[in-house]
Amino acid sequence: MKGSIPESKIEEIRQRADIVGLISEYVALKKAGRNHVGSCPFHKEKTPSFTVNSEKQIFYCFGCGQGGNVYAFLMKINNMSFPEAVRHLAVKLGITLPRTFSDEEEKRRSGLKQELYRVNTVARDYFARQLFSDGGKNGREYLRKREIREEVVREFKLGYAPPAWRYLRDFFQRQGTALSLVEKSGLIISKEKGDYYDRFRGRLIFPIEDIQGNVVAFGGRIIGEGEPKYLNSPESPVYIKGNNLYGLSRSRDDIRKADGVIVVEGYFDFLSLWNAGIRNVVATLGTSLTTHHADLIKRYTKNVFTLFDPDQGGKKALERSISLFLGRNMHARVVVLPEGRDPDAFVRSSGRKALEDVLSAAQSAVDYYIDEMIGIKTTLEENLESLREAIPFMAQIDDPVERNLFIKRVSERLQIDQALLKKEVGKALSADEEPAASGAPRQERAAVDLVELSLIYMMVEKPTRIDQAREHRILDFFASRELRGLGQSLEALRQAHKKVSVADFIEGLDNGATKRKLLEYAFADKYTDEKISERVFVDTVMKVKARWYREKHKELKTKLIRAQERGDAELCNQLLKEKERLFNEQKAL
Ligand code: GTP
Ligand code: MN
Repeated sequence: MKGSIPESKIEEIRQRADIVGLISEYVALKKAGRNHVGSCPFHKEKTPSFTVNSEKQIFYCFGCGQGGNVYAFLMKINNMSFPEAVRHLAVKLGITLPRTFSDEEEKRRSGLKQELYRVNTVARDYFARQLFSDGGKNGREYLRKREIREEVVREFKLGYAPPAWRYLRDFFQRQGTALSLVEKSGLIISKEKGDYYDRFRGRLIFPIEDIQGNVVAFGGRIIGEGEPKYLNSPESPVYIKGNNLYGLSRSRDDIRKADGVIVVEGYFDFLSLWNAGIRNVVATLGTSLTTHHADLIKRYTKNVFTLFDPDQGGKKALERSISLFLGRNMHARVVVLPEGRDPDAFVRSSGRKALEDVLSAAQSAVDYYIDEMIGIKTTLEENLESLREAIPFMAQIDDPVERNLFIKRVSERLQIDQALLKKEVGKALSADEEPAASGAPRQERAAVDLVELSLIYMMVEKPTRIDQAREHRILDFFASRELRGLGQSLEALRQAHKKVSVADFIEGLDNGATKRKLLEYAFADKYTDEKISERVFVDTVMKVKARWYREKHKELKTKLIRAQERGDAELCNQLLKEKERLFNEQKAL
């Protein structure tokens, strides 16, 4: 994840960076007490709740819960990866990062990739020439029938593979390119005795590019009717299905400018829209939307119009793509074309203006989902049934603002008390993130165990408390496995004589709720008085231990009752002894 940048550099950069200065480049900040505040760049708000603390080098939005250190800010605001954020800051600070020398394997792999890009580019140009040669008449005619302008055909470098077995194979052989290499691209297929034949024959060819414009694969459509309608390149070192979006390398600027993208399924849907002057488009090429797709799109815009055939993928696919977008704080709208027409047919018969009208009237994916899933239910049983499905779905929406909006809509629709629904979703949330800790007594608790979390926070604030915690084996009494894990990593850092700061510590946290709470503590600056803070720490430790014993006793009691019912005297005895041992142990504290 951190790539090849040395840990020490990452730390050095973070320590030298000034979070207030950095964020000021993006957000107008005002000093307020020990903090700086401004309007949150990550959600719409009227009163500023976005807060930056330069002493601790962290930011936190009390409105939407986004927060973290300088790297988290850069990643979020610029959609950068972690290494990208580090490099970005390094450049600003004038810190040179060591060049990363790839090992032999890396080099070999990237060498092969370059060769495959070249093979694919040569093939693309070959297919394009075929389309405009005498032999390509069928292909040209087909494109004319589908009303794709020549200018668009040339821009996307569409091509034609002649209906024969060895054209491309022979072409590469004449060129002196090793056929075993061409085979790796999937363009030719090996048959016995080391000979090869062409994969694409008698097809219209669509080169598929990655975001940098490298040709990574091809799609081939049969001319007219027939099976299979489309043939695609197999996966290769440069092509992984679901990692690319057709057209994005050419439409990205328009997507950014329009601050919105229209997602369609097919090559022809894409080309038809482009042909009609609508250029903020990408195509998924028939596969359902992947996390890669959503990440790719998010680099350019947060606003997505999905123009899918709603029956085709079904409810699951829709659910999936909605949660992909909502989980990334993106806004998706679902466009349903009249009479179930596909985008290509629609734009050709009704024109650009009609499509734009449909787009601007599109329902948000949330509303669409609620309509589809909940619909109009009449009986209480039906409502409950819908609710059972909706709760886990709502629980997986990452962004708390979106989630609450969703909860509000569902509660209105099902006429259920909003607070109640919120509570149910909260339960589903905590169930997701924490299975019962093994060994530790199970507890009823909110999304994060605040008592244990506050102990963790106090340890981060004052590392000598990590030693105290160790001495008193406090982590053994934690009910939350996640928090125990955090405590253990604190111990490890301490043993390695590593400095621990909030800004460092929250970086590696996956659990949003835990991270948010820690940031809240950091901003609350609760226990600044040394003596009070010590007392609070000791009290909290006692509380955690007392709770652990209480739960243990409860557990033993249940076991005891069961043993008595079964008349298992031996077990009863054993349990009673255990109870006494626990009791004494607790008293000795
Ligand atoms: P037309 O039927 O010519 O309008 O093509 P289209 O681009 O509109 O395709 P369609 O909507 O039927 O399917 C969407 C996408 O799914 C296509 O662009 C292909 O990428 C993919 N696809 C469709 N049919 C096949 C097939 O038979 N095999 C494979 N591998 N992919 C297909
Ligand atoms: Mn079509």
